[in-house]
Amino acid sequence: MPKWLIDAVFYEIYPQSFYDTNGDGIGDIPGIIEKLDYIKDLGCNALWINPCYDSPFKDAGYDVRDYKKVASRYGTNEDLYELFRVAHQKGIHVLIDLVPGHTSEEHEWFRESCKPEKNEYSDRYIWTDFWIKGTPGHPYIGGECDRNGTYMLNFFKCQPALNYGFFNPTESWQTSYKDPAAIATQDAMIDVMRFWLDRGCDGFRVDMADSLVKDDDKDKTGTCSIWQRIRKMLDTDYPEAALVAEWSNPWQAIASAGFHMDFYLDHGGNGYNTLLRDYETPGGDNSFFKKNANGDIGRFLKDFLPRYEISRGKGYVSFITCNHDTPRATNTLDESELKLAYATLLTLPGVPFIYYGDEIGMKYIADMPTKEGGYTRTGTRTPMQWSEGPNKGFSDASPDMLYLPVDANGPSVESESARPDSLYNTVKTLLKLKNANEDLKADADFKVILGIPGHPFVYQRGSMTIAVNPETRPATLDITGLIRGKSDQISQAGSPDKIVFSVGDPSFNAGKLELPAQSFAILL
Ligand code: NOJ
Repeated sequence: MPKWLIDAVFYEIYPQSFYDTNGDGIGDIPGIIEKLDYIKDLGCNALWINPCYDSPFKDAGYDVRDYKKVASRYGTNEDLYELFRVAHQKGIHVLIDLVPGHTSEEHEWFRESCKPEKNEYSDRYIWTDFWIKGTPGHPYIGGECDRNGTYMLNFFKCQPALNYGFFNPTESWQTSYKDPAAIATQDAMIDVMRFWLDRGCDGFRVDMADSLVKDDDKDKTGTCSIWQRIRKMLDTDYPEAALVAEWSNPWQAIASAGFHMDFYLDHGGNGYNTLLRDYETPGGDNSFFKKNANGDIGRFLKDFLPRYEISRGKGYVSFITCNHDTPRATNTLDESELKLAYATLLTLPGVPFIYYGDEIGMKYIADMPTKEGGYTRTGTRTPMQWSEGPNKGFSDASPDMLYLPVDANGPSVESESARPDSLYNTVKTLLKLKNANEDLKADADFKVILGIPGHPFVYQRGSMTIAVNPETRPATLDITGLIRGKSDQISQAGSPDKIVFSVGDPSFNAGKLELPAQSFAILL
């Protein structure tokens, strides 16, 4: 387990929208380098950068044309190596995106694979043996090249699935996941990983990590065995390199595949979804952090606690404020709600990720026309708002050249850093406390003290007690009594006696915590 993860706080960067230094209207790697001090000052010490490789950009770069080449719109490979170097100097680790399940249809491997003549790449992708053929449950494309077959897709039409084989081949053209052709794909991806690790990256966020072996069994045994092999390689040769899975299933990703972290993604009805984005169920917004929604934290705990238990000692669940695929939480939550939500996410166990701009409350732009395969995701990908100057300080280009229009009426780092009680300043103050405190590290003890409907949610991290009241009705809690009732371990450590961080205006006296409307307190 990489040691640095224990106190990592990640910042996700969608590079095209972060900061443009060469005036072409698109963010770039030198722009990320320039903003490292901002990220550090916010309290983050690690980055995840979305794909920045050569690509036709039909899926914002998740359609990789060359895994080993930085897209020219972002700069050069040397710029990325320089980013690794400068980030390390500042104590920041950098994860880049690995897209192992598919390439762009313009990747050289795929061009070769399309040829009717047998060659080194004929089995690099999943091909049937006839021009009009397929199998249930998968999309296949035909009619695009001279090879007598159809190929399987992993996501969009532009993303043919790489061949890691089938768990249990049932057709003559299917290879087992143990077949040399499937192993050759693994080797090719390991070669890509080594390439970047040797040049200074600190690991990878792995796209669709569960998608490798096709028609895998219910435990994803085949796919997990590939990641175990990769984890072994990392443990031996790059022990401080970290892997975070886009999987949202820690039983598989962490306990079985060997990932160090697994994202807790916004999947309808899961525990994370009930916290910030539960607005699709009938009857209004039931999100726990929506004021007066009478949210039930039990829905979150029921789903989260087993995830937490299975990960303990092996890896970390990663909470996200949002990501490039998810509507920003500002879609439905206002600033007072977001403060409580982020304060909670950043103090739960695990390794958290802040999506760029969430710290200043950037808006989700619901009606944004699609860009680079973004569709409804596009509204979450608009340029970072740095200042109140032209283009909100994102770029010197003329507005019509920008990657996406800036949200001209939205908040900016300039406006939010100047407002003492802004979301930005709340996050920053909290991260300062988190970074200075063992009790708020990824693996510090976690215990639920109160988690029932209609009451504040109270939990412990190490010797800290944390309480959040998302409702507008005030609450009074006998903290000492609650702790004595719920946690032998903590009562031995003594009862808390002061508030060390707060939102709203909570007060603590003689064991009683007064939580006014929409408040949050950390007691020590
Ligand atoms: C998940 C990524 O997060 C998303 O943006 C992308 O479109 C798909 N995987 C396909 O790579």
